[in-house]
Amino acid sequence: MLTDTHTHLTLPTYNADREEVIARAQAEGVRRLVVIGLDLASSRAAVALAECQENLWATVGVHPHEAAALDEETLEALTELAAHPKVVAWGEIGLDYYRHRTPRKVQREAFRRQLARARAVGRPVVVHDREAHEEVFALLEEAEAWARGGVMHCFSGDRALAERYLARGFYIGLDGPVTFPKASRLHDLAAHLPLNALLLETDCPYLTPHPYRGRRNEPAYLRYIAERVAQLRGLTVEAVAEVTSANAVRLFGWSSLA
Ligand code: NI
Repeated sequence: MLTDTHTHLTLPTYNADREEVIARAQAEGVRRLVVIGLDLASSRAAVALAECQENLWATVGVHPHEAAALDEETLEALTELAAHPKVVAWGEIGLDYYRHRTPRKVQREAFRRQLARARAVGRPVVVHDREAHEEVFALLEEAEAWARGGVMHCFSGDRALAERYLARGFYIGLDGPVTFPKASRLHDLAAHLPLNALLLETDCPYLTPHPYRGRRNEPAYLRYIAERVAQLRGLTVEAVAEVTSANAVRLFGWSSLA
C-alpha cells in the first residue's frame, strides 16, 4: 500500500475526471491521499473532498504565492477548518524566492502567522521551500515547529540540510523528479537518507514522473516514484511502500495502516 502525501486534486484540471483519477490511484495501490490546500477556497474544497471519500484527507493553509491573501479573517477561517477530523496538517506554507510572486516580507509574515496557528491547533506543517533554505529553517526554529513535526515538501536542499531536518524529527518529501535520469542530488538523497524519514508525494498535477513527464500528473503515478526509490536502495517496492506509509501514519496521526 502506498500513501500519496501531497496532491492538488481540487484544481480545475481534474474537474472532468476527478473520480476516475481517485479510482485509478486505488487500483494502483495508493490507498491514502492527502489533498493540500493552497488558499482558503482550495482548503475548503480539500476538506469537502475528504469528507465524502474515506481514503482522502486534507490540509489547510495559504501557499507563499498567495501570501498576500492571508488576512485575519482568512486565518480565522483556516483555524476553524483545521479542527475538522479529516484535516491532518497545516500547509502548504513556506517561502518561494524562486518564482517570487509575492514580496519576501509578505511571505515571511504569512509563514510566521500560520506556523504560530498550526502550533496552537496542534497540527504538523507541510512546508514549501524554494531557494529560501536558511530563512525557512530559521522561521521554523523561531516558531518551535519541531515539536509537532512536519514535512519538507519536494525537498530541494542537499544532504547536509536534510540531516538538519531529520535531527529535528521532520520528514523529507520525495516527488517525481527523483525518477529523472539526471537528478543525481535526488538520487543521492533517496539512496542514503533513512527510509523512516521519507514521504512519497506526487504534487500532482505538477512534477510528473518518468515515463509520463510532460503530461498531467496523478496519484496513480506514485508507484513510479516508489519503484525508483526501491531501485536506488536495493529494496523491494513493497518495503518502500510499507515504510513510507508508516511514516505518514506517524506524522499525520492516523491510527494505523488499515
Ligand atoms: Ni504542492
